[in-house]
Amino acid sequence: MAAFFNTGLSQQQFLDEYWQKKPLLIRQAFVDFESPISPDDLAGLACEPEIESRLIEENGPEGTWQVTHGPLSVDDFSRLPETHWTMLVQDVDKHLPGVQYLLDPFRFIPDWRRDDLMISYAPEHGTVGPHTDGYDVFLLQAMGTRNWQVSDKAIHDVELMEGLSVQIMTEFTAAQEWDLQPGDMLYLPPHFAHHGVARNDCMTFSIGFRAPSQTDLLDSVINTLLEKQLATGRYSDPDLQITVNQTEIDSQTISRLKQLLHDTIDQAEPILTQALGKYVSETKSSLATLAAESLTDLPSIQELDELFGKGGELQRSLYHRFAWSADTDGGHVYLAGESYFVDDENCSYLPLLTEHNAFTHTDWQQIKSSEQIVNLLCQLIAEGGWYWLD
Ligand code: SIN
Ligand code: CO
Repeated sequence: MAAFFNTGLSQQQFLDEYWQKKPLLIRQAFVDFESPISPDDLAGLACEPEIESRLIEENGPEGTWQVTHGPLSVDDFSRLPETHWTMLVQDVDKHLPGVQYLLDPFRFIPDWRRDDLMISYAPEHGTVGPHTDGYDVFLLQAMGTRNWQVSDKAIHDVELMEGLSVQIMTEFTAAQEWDLQPGDMLYLPPHFAHHGVARNDCMTFSIGFRAPSQTDLLDSVINTLLEKQLATGRYSDPDLQITVNQTEIDSQTISRLKQLLHDTIDQAEPILTQALGKYVSETKSSLATLAAESLTDLPSIQELDELFGKGGELQRSLYHRFAWSADTDGGHVYLAGESYFVDDENCSYLPLLTEHNAFTHTDWQQIKSSEQIVNLLCQLIAEGGWYWLD
């Protein structure tokens, strides 16, 4: 059984005992860890217009807990004090493919659950304040020392400080506290309150796992039902009793409504996988512009053959989300909120199309043997999910 870092736990034991349940501190999860990026590299990313970043100052010139959204400028950096601020950059795993290896130990968790690798830099006393997140997160200390205080249970009804653009709890009582050194990692389930304060110049890597909300999922189910023209029935009341108050919505009406909603979910059963696949493959809105850069016209099979023949290499876009599913009568690839059908006999290609990082001439020889898969690859290229390496 695959080990979960150096914890003595298997990956399954970690899932059974800790995942979504309780925090876990792992000393030296990454032995002799050295950050692959420097604070200057991170500041460079924060200055890029298409990259999501924030600066959080505990005592900013415009007030306490001041948030400046990126792109940050040289002026922003030059006015910063020595201490008490944090710079955060989202989706570093997509912007710098060279850090993807850090995600490898987490690939036993479904890909669609992972959101991003966020990296923060903070000088001494830098913090974003005590807060909760709706995410599971692995907080890997990458440079310097950070003190983490953590609650002992999930807190759903947090009271937040008013008038701020950061979510900071008015009250926070720590149950546990640790200093994390480079290579140490802390796992936190969703809604566990946490407060991390830099003891010195420090960088923290947050590997965050998203979970769709009930209403977002319902929205996707409804859209798929509409598209497939399913669940077209209407409210009905053959059991109607004489109405006493004409304008009242009575409890029997609500019972019928609940039954109607249950029936709708039952009717949605055949499209649930597709609804989820489309939802989880939607491109993150903050990455949409970068993802659109690889959009192209639908290529022909001959073009692909030629380009591969000349030594061309196709690269899978990290700005796009991929997923696949298979059932008894075929499968689907999901990309950018769309689903693409694949016959049963071609389902073995699904991991290749959605997990591989690159296709060379050798892969092309394999892909070429299925006309349906070649056509699908052409569509995925047109959508920007795969692009030619320059
Ligand atoms: C940080 O890196 O400063 C904050 C990370 C978090 O609390 O989620
Ligand atoms: Co947090």
